[in-house]
Amino acid sequence: MHDVSAVILAAGEGTRMRSGTVKVLHPLLGRPLVHHSVDLCLRLGVKRVLVVVGAQAEAVRKALAGRPVEFVSQAEPQGTAHAVLQTEAALQGFAGAVLVLAGDSPLLTDETVRQLLDTHRAARAVATLLTARVADPTGYGRILRDRQGRLRRIVEEVEATAKEKRLSEINTSLYCFAGPFLFPALKAVKRSPVKGEFFLPEVVRVYVSQRRKVHTLLAPDPTEVLGINTRAELAQAASLLRHRVHERLMAAGVTLLDPAATYIDDTVTIGPDTVVYPGVVLQGATTIGAGCVLYPHCRIQDAHLDEGVTVLDGSVIVQSEIAEGCVIGPYAHLRPQSQLKAKAKVGNFCEVKKAVLGAGAKVPHLAYIGDATLGAKVNIGAGTITCNYDGFAKHETVIEDEVFVGSNTNLVAPIRVGRGAIIAAGSTITETVPPDAVAFGRAAQVTKEGRAAETRKKRQAMAPPKADDD
Ligand code: UD1
Ligand code: CA
Repeated sequence: MHDVSAVILAAGEGTRMRSGTVKVLHPLLGRPLVHHSVDLCLRLGVKRVLVVVGAQAEAVRKALAGRPVEFVSQAEPQGTAHAVLQTEAALQGFAGAVLVLAGDSPLLTDETVRQLLDTHRAARAVATLLTARVADPTGYGRILRDRQGRLRRIVEEVEATAKEKRLSEINTSLYCFAGPFLFPALKAVKRSPVKGEFFLPEVVRVYVSQRRKVHTLLAPDPTEVLGINTRAELAQAASLLRHRVHERLMAAGVTLLDPAATYIDDTVTIGPDTVVYPGVVLQGATTIGAGCVLYPHCRIQDAHLDEGVTVLDGSVIVQSEIAEGCVIGPYAHLRPQSQLKAKAKVGNFCEVKKAVLGAGAKVPHLAYIGDATLGAKVNIGAGTITCNYDGFAKHETVIEDEVFVGSNTNLVAPIRVGRGAIIAAGSTITETVPPDAVAFGRAAQVTKEGRAAETRKKRQAMAPPKADDD
């Protein structure tokens, strides 16, 4: 699409959100609103994406860091026409089509934008607008047409008469302009007498007065054009977008036991025959393989799960890689850079951080494994801790294949336990354990025969128990 450039309007404050954060940075299914418009343009492969920034410009730029976009600044928010006008220098001499999108309309689909471009090309118009018929047009600009149905102008809510407010066809804020005709028309837009701003929809009036051809396309699905101005609309958009995600996943063979209670970002992929229980939250760049089971109330963020992984109730997995057949949880916490090889297990109330667990390794209960490498078939007893931090720096633990670590062991890093070694329960291990050795790191047991009975007798002599003591 080298004959198309896009302008995304993201300079407004978003006062109706009543927030310290600008509107376009409020998250929707894990990504700031503005990402949705930007990513759509990038997917379409337009030549350039220009983002108009103003309110909290630095934060908006930062949120878009890494995406191939250009920024244009609008020093004062003087309205949407003024915002587009700021791109004049950047688009000087550009003869292609200029797509204009609001940064607060995240439900638009690629197909609809493509359709608008096709319509625009076929109609050879100076501008083509996407309109929609909605049940409640409150807040939107209304489309005014003449008796023949030709577009006359757009009237904003603040300037509309009671009769105009009853019109149900609205402006969606998605426009396609013929480049050479855009900036001259913007300069002819007059300030709104009511709001003092330059409204972009006013270009329609300019074109119509010049008898130029402005075309419209009616959105096939009015839920696509929802503009987010309030938190209630943000929640409504989230619900609509989640519904779309759920439909896509179920069509691809994923079982969602209760879609309404499932929270999956639109960036997540899931393989067929995976079962997702209620309360599951899947976020960011997460990919889940086929045939997995995700039990209730798990949260998985930016992680990859291969096929056949089971995640039991209440587990959290962040930035980790889980190979096929692993079992995690219940109530396990896999922190960033954890890697589980095939059929490894991290069980009840365990925490794993920046650690590799070899194939078939088991950490079944109540353990902390951090900054560690565990070989294949290592077995870690309940209550075992890798003491990775000495108050100054983090240190590594290496446990080679088939090591057995007894319960309640402290492994004081840096430390290495050789292949096949056995660590006795309750040990504090501070020195290298060679392969196939047995290591004890605990005080020797002292047993005094009969001492308990003696002690009891002594106590009774001092103070006989009261009758109702228990
Ligand atoms: C706008 C349209 C309205 C349309 C509706 C669809 C105008 C005047 N009205 O209204 O016809 O029905 O969208 O959702 O365009 N922005 C800037 N600079 C500014 C002002 C706004 O960059 O000076 C950006 C905002 O950050 C936002 C977008 O433009 O992303 C739209 O602005 P907003 O104030 O939300 O317009 P609406 O009142 O919703
Ligand atoms: Ca809006």
